[in-house]
Amino acid sequence: RLAFATRLKSVATMAASQEFTGNLKREVEKLFDTSLRITVPDGTSVETEVAASLPGKPGDYQCNNAMGLWSVIKGKGTQFRGPPAVGQAISKNLPASEMVETCSVAGPGFVNLVLSSKWMAKSIEKMLIDGIDTWAPTLPVKRAVVDFSSPNIAKEMHVGHLRSTIIGDTLARMLEYSKVEVLRRNHVGDWGTQFGMLIEYLFEKFPDTESVTETAIGDLQTFYKKSKTKFDEDTDFKEKAQKAVVRLQGGDPIYRKAWAKICEISRTEFAKVYQRLKVELEEKGESFYNPYIANVIGELDSKGLVEESEGARVIFLEGFNIPLMVVKSDGGFNYASTDLTALWYRLNEEKAEWIVYVTDVGQQQHFNMFFKAARKAGWLPESDKTYPRVDHVGFGLVLGDDGKRFRTRSSDVVRLVDLLDEAKTRSKTALIERGKDKEWTPEELDRTAEAVGYGAVKYADLKNNRLTNYTFNFDQMLSDKGNTAVYLLYAHARICSIIRKSGKDIDELKKTEKLALDHPEERALGLHLLRFAETVEEACSNLLPNVLCHYLYDLSERYTSFYSVHQVIGSPEEASRLLLCEATAVVMRKCFHLLGITPVYKI
Ligand code: ARG
Repeated sequence: RLAFATRLKSVATMAASQEFTGNLKREVEKLFDTSLRITVPDGTSVETEVAASLPGKPGDYQCNNAMGLWSVIKGKGTQFRGPPAVGQAISKNLPASEMVETCSVAGPGFVNLVLSSKWMAKSIEKMLIDGIDTWAPTLPVKRAVVDFSSPNIAKEMHVGHLRSTIIGDTLARMLEYSKVEVLRRNHVGDWGTQFGMLIEYLFEKFPDTESVTETAIGDLQTFYKKSKTKFDEDTDFKEKAQKAVVRLQGGDPIYRKAWAKICEISRTEFAKVYQRLKVELEEKGESFYNPYIANVIGELDSKGLVEESEGARVIFLEGFNIPLMVVKSDGGFNYASTDLTALWYRLNEEKAEWIVYVTDVGQQQHFNMFFKAARKAGWLPESDKTYPRVDHVGFGLVLGDDGKRFRTRSSDVVRLVDLLDEAKTRSKTALIERGKDKEWTPEELDRTAEAVGYGAVKYADLKNNRLTNYTFNFDQMLSDKGNTAVYLLYAHARICSIIRKSGKDIDELKKTEKLALDHPEERALGLHLLRFAETVEEACSNLLPNVLCHYLYDLSERYTSFYSVHQVIGSPEEASRLLLCEATAVVMRKCFHLLGITPVYKI
């Protein structure tokens, strides 16, 4: 009782000084929470249900609790005569707040809240001065691991890895914005039996391993293929390769050195892609966990989880028709043993509270199984939404125009660098067609082509729900119409150019002028701006970047609706409207930043 009363009090104090903390929905929830507890004290177990009103419906937010509360008090001698009356009381008991313009009841008790345009304007003004980081959501975790990209040494870094890189980077950026310390981890596949044949092949081709360079090896993928062919065809070589694995795993320094060389060459190739995409991550490959594996598997064993099965050591898990193998019949460790160890390390050594793995949905079973094993071992809580928490962020396939797995004409796996090159070339051509080569310096042209081209590739991937397959189509993603990065980047550049053309010093305006949201289109745009943080929070909690893309596209649509009916430069409302333009540009830029897209200021 006492705890409840204190909570009421603290909520009420918060409501009185309506400082906008960033999450608009949560602010509204707090108000209704207070009102609900006053209206029906018996209904404290009922959760406050607030949702943004659908477009065209009355109000900005709606509280849907009247019916639920009614069912709690009905037949218990209540003074209310039905849900609409409960709704009326919820509306009446809403604590006084400068946030609220009006509150009214519709139909069977829906309570519609209209926000005060003045308060909205004030909150946006404040953000313009204090910066958009003051809107950053707060998540219930301090440190997270995002395990993404994670290509395999010497094997091709395919489009699937591109998806993982793009999605993982965005998730990391959104979490970082939300004040979470993110350990960006590249779980590179740098260990395994394939290294036997790679090393033997390297010894054969380059007896002086020391001096081997990336250029000498050329394409590491081809190198891999050739060594594989030899492995399949030449029994002598095969035997040597198998022995090489044993020596490597036994720690033989010469084999270790050769292995390190191969990894290093691969690494420089990967680094080029990361650099182009402006993605930062730290490599802690599978081999990093080698020194810990035996202990970790030993711990699982001592907990009675590990059993013998056909010579291998496995963990049986309810709900799966195959057991999880943790030690192979030859005594070696595998992908699952490494992942269990990495999880142990991340929880215990790195003290991460949320670990997120970004791979294609094809690996879902692997993740579900070792997550389950970790729960069985007591490393993780039973409930999957409780922290420390693990999530597998799966994604679908990238398809070509023929609806099949995306490939190039030569039907080889698509090389990432080629894709990025083509995106850049195409966007450069489009810019030249618009005559930009005459207006801009070659550097400007190049930089813009890169921002637009790479941005287009990223956005085309991120805008879809990650679980669905999507079709890779240059023409579509580079179109300046519709929901594309090009359209959005151009929209942002146009806003910047309006501000420039006004000749006003926007930083000065922020300090001296007021923002007003008097017209419906201005208000709708302002409201959408204020929903930025709650959108990022939703995208984070559900690990869905497309939620943010959707928001960004809506934002530019709302801006267009505003701009197409209201004059900015030269109107009596010029100063206020320039501030609204600036706020839109600030939020758009933050969205671009979170999506890993470089904004363009001039078009
Ligand atoms: N290297 C793996 C692959 O290419 C992805 C690794 C994902 N991360 C992990 N902890 N299993 O399929």
